[in-house]
Amino acid sequence: MKFLKADSVLKSLGLLGPGKSKVKKVDEEEVEKVVDANDSHGTNENGCGDGGNESAGKLDCTAEELAGDDVDGALTDEVRPQKKAKAAVEGNGCSGEEVNGSGIPEKDIEINCPLETEPELATDKLEVIADSVETDGSLKLHPREKKLIDFRGKLFLAPLTTVGNLPFRRVCKTLGADVTCGEMAMCTNLLQGQASEWALLRRHSSEDLFGVQICGAYPDTVTRTAELIDQECTVDFIDINMGCPIDIVVNKGAGSSLLTKPMRMKSIIEATSGTVEKPITVKVRTGYFEGKNRIDSLIVDIGKWGASAVTIHGRSRQQRYSKLADWDYIYQCARKSPDSLQVLGNGDVFSFVDWNKHKSDCPELSSCMIARGALIKPWIFTEIKEQRHWDISSGERLNILKDYVRSGLEHWGSDTKGVETTRHFLLEWLSYTYRYVPVGLLDVIPQRLNWRPPSYYGRDDLETLMASDSAADWIRISEMLLGKVPDSFTFAPKHKSNAYDRAENG
Ligand SMILES: Cc1cc2nc3c(=O)[nH]c(=O)nc-3n(C[C@H](O)[C@H](O)[C@H](O)COP(=O)(O)O)c2cc1C
Repeated sequence: MKFLKADSVLKSLGLLGPGKSKVKKVDEEEVEKVVDANDSHGTNENGCGDGGNESAGKLDCTAEELAGDDVDGALTDEVRPQKKAKAAVEGNGCSGEEVNGSGIPEKDIEINCPLETEPELATDKLEVIADSVETDGSLKLHPREKKLIDFRGKLFLAPLTTVGNLPFRRVCKTLGADVTCGEMAMCTNLLQGQASEWALLRRHSSEDLFGVQICGAYPDTVTRTAELIDQECTVDFIDINMGCPIDIVVNKGAGSSLLTKPMRMKSIIEATSGTVEKPITVKVRTGYFEGKNRIDSLIVDIGKWGASAVTIHGRSRQQRYSKLADWDYIYQCARKSPDSLQVLGNGDVFSFVDWNKHKSDCPELSSCMIARGALIKPWIFTEIKEQRHWDISSGERLNILKDYVRSGLEHWGSDTKGVETTRHFLLEWLSYTYRYVPVGLLDVIPQRLNWRPPSYYGRDDLETLMASDSAADWIRISEMLLGKVPDSFTFAPKHKSNAYDRAENG
């Protein structure tokens, strides 16, 4: 595969060529320092190899490893091979051209072209502030010349590994989400043409403002991945993950470990945004170490390097999910940011009250991104739009689950395998939904995300069942929607394994 644009930009920035390995050597040392300082174990939990040179193809942890067990990856990989994408590709604007000599077989690209086969992507709804300019790939686009998306006031569903799958995002779109984003995909896996990774980039036709999130440790892999995505997919923006806290990613020098390497952040953002016309956005935490926030000192540069927007999750990597997100710090960063850089805040938004508070406390913020709030109550988007607390009934909640299952069967297939895949992802989602406490039962409104209320009886049997934290009860709910499971069936949510969301719980 030739990455004409990426390589010419990398070269012009001095990031490709003889000096490269020296830079990487320094970077590797930086990674080691970070790992030593933070993890008692230097190797990652999944035996994915030690932190190394991503260009050499070592940052190739599989989706399964990231997700914590081998269920998802295997399933997402296998569930769609029958999807012949040529028609879908043409119908949805994906090029479907042969990628000659790419190392990615043509059939893989065809099969895994990440677009759901529904007609008419409403790309015209995209709010384009400025028109694009033609570039021959050797010229870096000035941030002012890039297509921009206006995120102001838009309800943004956060990228969510495993649970933020396409059927879930469809549910959120129906309930009012404006912007959606695919699950984090690893650059090296994409460059290797791994089907399960490309599946993470699929877009549903209802996702009218849609981005994908990629994660890599080095400018060459990230930039080439962006060029490939630009060619093969129809996306509105590409988000670079610089906040992922999980060991398997951090130990490779990607995700939040980049927060300790501003020069590497610079080269990744600069090269990627110079390569594609699509807006490049970045998702960060406040810093790597607790008490050592970094983003305020980088915010002006992040804009200069070419990012169109930055989402700040108001916690450090070390902090994971402990304590509340530091919104005062997010506001401070938003006030410092240049006009060309939109700042989105993220952390603990769980009601329209939270949303309103952040907007009024800091008008400089473009918007807020919502993650667990959407998982626990996806109607949060409706609540924000309609400015009310929705005392939703158990029947209405069941209808939302029905919609999800319908989309799941459409997406993963309605054969035995598709049903079980749908059930698996439904159960993952149900491991969040039980945390919702109905408005009508609350003494204090609204519920807060960090509350762990005692168990309670609902107003009807279904509401009580939906409040259960037992996996056996989640299986019962799944049986109401997808039929009986075999006697031997068990389910352990990813919280208990090495998943992204273990970061929330441990
Ligand atoms: C299950 C789960 C999966 C996540 N996956 C991703 C991901 O793929 N990419 C990412 O940037 N952040 C991911 N996050 C972090 C969220 O996007 C968000 O930054 C964080 O949960 C804080 O927002 P909240 O308080 O609204 O949940 C994930 C979080 C959870 C709980």
